[in-house]
Amino acid sequence: MTPIILDMDPGIDDAVALSIALTNPELDIKLLTSVAGNVSVDKTTTNLLKLTTFFNQTQVPVARGAAAPLKKAFVDASYIHGASGMPGYEFPTITTQALTTDAVSAMAKVLSEAPEPMTIVATGSYTNIALLIQNHPEVISQIKEFVLMGGSLSGGNVSSVAEFNLFTDPDAADVVFKSGVPIVMIGLDVTLKALLSLETIDAVADLGEAGNMLHKLMTAYGDSEPGGKPMHDVNTICYLLLPEFYTTKDYWVDVITDGPASGATIADTQNRWSNGKINAKVAVDIDAQAFEKWFLAQIPTMNHYCEGAF
Ligand code: BDR
Ligand code: CA
Repeated sequence: MTPIILDMDPGIDDAVALSIALTNPELDIKLLTSVAGNVSVDKTTTNLLKLTTFFNQTQVPVARGAAAPLKKAFVDASYIHGASGMPGYEFPTITTQALTTDAVSAMAKVLSEAPEPMTIVATGSYTNIALLIQNHPEVISQIKEFVLMGGSLSGGNVSSVAEFNLFTDPDAADVVFKSGVPIVMIGLDVTLKALLSLETIDAVADLGEAGNMLHKLMTAYGDSEPGGKPMHDVNTICYLLLPEFYTTKDYWVDVITDGPASGATIADTQNRWSNGKINAKVAVDIDAQAFEKWFLAQIPTMNHYCEGAF
């Protein structure tokens, strides 16, 4: 089992990613942390607890994270993810609570007690992990890598160059990309290729209670492309389990933190300023058919976990 820390802002695609991560026997979630992003941090924290309750995984600790970016004002994406962040499904009453410690302190504790360096997966803006780097330098060597959903080398989804997680808190992203911790950047370059077709989303409705829940959320999801809906964050979990689905390139990546290109990620593809240094493995292509097939295959296992949760 691979031990991980998952930092999220559910958010519908975060919720789909977490549903897989909570129920996949190869992953061991040591800590779940929330961050403001798609909706407020109060709501993203509640949504994490809704999912751990739904899947009978209340032993997984949840810690509340940052309520706002490092410097910028917070602007949510409820226009895509609905007012609650997980609309369309009536979840069972939450049977557990968030830790009394904040996300950054909880991450530092888990890392300091881990026998080996651990992977941190982040599918929201990177405010919590930037604060971890700034406030707990003693645990940086305990981070094996960051697997991040975010960024793009091929155009944005908030501005013409910026992806949402980067745009929300570019200053945090800058800290993370300069941290020296190895990064896997899974951005729009692949997530916009890995669409779930509307037929697949419809088919999920009949696959037990987990399928019904995911169908309702994905139907309410406002992010849509010709050919289907991009489940951006799910790619981080897929990458952890099946990295062979992804083509990656090693680059030095910088983050633009202000001006009209704020939130852009720019890779030194021509080796003009990085002197051969590398800070990120950037996913540039994906076997989209294999991704969709893998996604569908996860649902039966999920149903075993949610039986009796109601
Ligand atoms: C990212 O932005 C959020 O709205 C999604 O949850 C995903 O993490 C895609 O740009
Ligand atoms: Ca997200």
